[in-house]
Amino acid sequence: MKVNILAIESSCDETSAAVISDGKILNNIIATQSVHEKYGGVVPELASRAHQQHLIPVVAEAMNDSGILKKDLHAVAFTKGPGLMGSLMVGVSFAKSFAYALGIPLIEVNHMQAHILAHFIDSPQPKFPFVCLTVSGGHTQLVLVKDYLDMEIIGETTDDAVGEAFDKTAKLLGLPYPGGPLIDKYAKEGNPNAYEFPISDIPGLNFSFSGIKTAVLYFLRDQIKDNPGFITENLADICASIQHTLVKTLLQKLKKAAQMHNVKEIAIAGGVSANSGLREALKMMADKQGWKIYIPKFEYCTDNAAMIAMAAHFKYQKGEFSGLDVVPEARMKF
Ligand code: KG4
Ligand code: ZN
Repeated sequence: MKVNILAIESSCDETSAAVISDGKILNNIIATQSVHEKYGGVVPELASRAHQQHLIPVVAEAMNDSGILKKDLHAVAFTKGPGLMGSLMVGVSFAKSFAYALGIPLIEVNHMQAHILAHFIDSPQPKFPFVCLTVSGGHTQLVLVKDYLDMEIIGETTDDAVGEAFDKTAKLLGLPYPGGPLIDKYAKEGNPNAYEFPISDIPGLNFSFSGIKTAVLYFLRDQIKDNPGFITENLADICASIQHTLVKTLLQKLKKAAQMHNVKEIAIAGGVSANSGLREALKMMADKQGWKIYIPKFEYCTDNAAMIAMAAHFKYQKGEFSGLDVVPEARMKF
């Protein structure tokens, strides 16, 4: 008998549904919310409303496309957290009602664990133990992954996430939200050593990214005073320099983590792992350090339900189900 699971992701601003059958992802339907662009960031209230509008059509599309009938589903999985409370609530309520109506179990999934488990959707797959650098708009974590569901956070940001640093500095440059991919795009044409921004070095494996935003703000203010056209004239160099600083910070700590835990299997996950500067620098470091590196397909880097489905597959095998009294957790830990 094939185990079929429907998975739902609604932690931030993507509404997504996916169906997995016997560990194989059949589809990954994603509705992106464009409503936030003009506000320069995700507006939580608008995000939950958009999830309410998108969720049923997205689930219907995933189910129809899979060719699996509702009566042949074995479980419904959902993101329990971390994320925006109102957004999580929409997914959790839907999953509960759906599971209750069909009389099948519910599987709760930790969004950050799921980003890492996206590595098991396709091949090649990392071998345990591996270190994963999970970098998104809400999180920056170094995780020691001992098994599918046995993970330990060995380092994390003490303030902003690296995705936030990309998005906030992009906003200072007048770029629309989310600015991360645009910094990546302009950086390709620029000189990464044109300007120097400070890297806040904090002890151990933790990160701090709030300083760069202020550094860029003061730098731009000083430059614009002398030349009002500074940003437009030097956009590529500014983007390349910001990206270079952020990537260097990430890789310094990743190298330290790999050495401390004597691990040579290295993975990256989360939205920022789509960054081409990070991917290139990681490949160079891997050559020097003798690492084997794993970078997910672009589709599985940013928020998606396929990764939730993959995590649910492992939880189903272990019989880890939730009751109908389960509630979302905005600050969920592992
Ligand atoms: O994982 P994700 O889709 O959502 C969260 O869980 O936060 O990550 C979104 C973040 C945003 O900050 C976005 O700017 C960043 O990932 N991002 C990038 C790139 N693509 C997405 N940052 C830098 N370069 C990119 N190519
Ligand atoms: Zn995410």
